[in-house]
Amino acid sequence: MDSHALLAAARAAVDPALNRPLGAAVTEVTVQDGQAHVAVELGYPVGGYARELGPVVSSALQAAGWSGPVLLNLSARLKAAAAQGSVKPIPGILNIVAVASGKGGVGKSTTAANLALALSAQGARVGILDADIYGPSQPLMMGLAGERPTSRDGKHIEPLRAYGIAVMSIGFLIDAEQPMVWRGPMVTQALMQLLGDTEWGELDYLIVDMPPGTGDTQLTLSQRVPVSGVVIVTTPQDIALLDARKGLMMFRKVAVPVLGIVENMALHICTRCGHAEHVFGAGGGERMAAEYGVPVLGSLPLDIRIREQADGGRPTVVAEPTGPLALAYDSMARRVAAQLCADATGATVFPNLSVSDD
Ligand SMILES: Nc1ncnc2c1ncn2[C@@H]1O[C@H](COP(=O)(O)OP(=O)(O)OP(=O)(O)O)[C@@H](O)[C@H]1O
Ligand SMILES: [Mg+2]
Repeated sequence: MDSHALLAAARAAVDPALNRPLGAAVTEVTVQDGQAHVAVELGYPVGGYARELGPVVSSALQAAGWSGPVLLNLSARLKAAAAQGSVKPIPGILNIVAVASGKGGVGKSTTAANLALALSAQGARVGILDADIYGPSQPLMMGLAGERPTSRDGKHIEPLRAYGIAVMSIGFLIDAEQPMVWRGPMVTQALMQLLGDTEWGELDYLIVDMPPGTGDTQLTLSQRVPVSGVVIVTTPQDIALLDARKGLMMFRKVAVPVLGIVENMALHICTRCGHAEHVFGAGGGERMAAEYGVPVLGSLPLDIRIREQADGGRPTVVAEPTGPLALAYDSMARRVAAQLCADATGATVFPNLSVSDD
């Protein structure tokens, strides 16, 4: 077979992270010593992705008549998502991704922590900004409770580091026992300072853990911070979906791209018998995604390990990196990053995304 035919076949293979053909991401196919070498350059982190993409490319070449071995040469070229609005990018930070919802307690902080850790495990440079000024969660979840950041020049603060990522939270600067009784403008100012005064260094992704609701923090963030996109977390419960819709609409209104929906606590798997049950009803996230024309980026079951590991300061992605839950976070993270470089017109909707625990 000539390499032109192989190149066409590889380009037609469907990238699972974007649910569309690889196209120009396949830069070259060469045949050497009876082996097909396929070079693929993607706009999102590729660590661990050969496992998933390798078989897809191999079968595409086989379907086109190739019978020899296929070697995948994967590389990532991370870049900033297309600029939105008039807010200037922050030097050194390529992409800012907010994790939000309308409702409290749906798993934003847990999702943000595992998303950040999964992107880092895939090879990206990652930070987390805890934007929940009233109820910061990241110090505890990242195993940094009680730690204090330092400053080299008295003006900027060094973020704390956990599992290779930079973390900043108001929780590091105030007494954990002290309830926050600030007024709106102070919250806004605190958020802008946490973002602006932290020495983040070079980051591919800064993940922002948002507080619940559609209040000051959300407005500040969308108007004054160059947010590349927002991930909406929801449980399939109807009421949560109503609130999630409000959250989604708010970001749409202020023209922050909605990257997609993460359905959390979608399914409960009994620890005794393995029986799977839709505690909050099935398919809500998918319905909402279809309604708004955005993809479901991931679906996480209600699993006691997710809670215990996050509350224990060692989120699932680092606690059980090869387990099924970490793999679900891994594929969610890749889809989030992939959506950032998908052109705005080509939003993808994944059909029938399902969760399993085996
Ligand atoms: N998939 C899950 N399975 C089991 N427990 C979970 C799951 N996701 C989150 N939790 C747990 O649910 C609780 C709420 O999660 P989390 O703090 O992430 O929600 P949140 O949306 O950030 O809440 P808030 O609105 O208060 O900021 C935590 O105890 C967390 O460990
Ligand atoms: Mg939270």
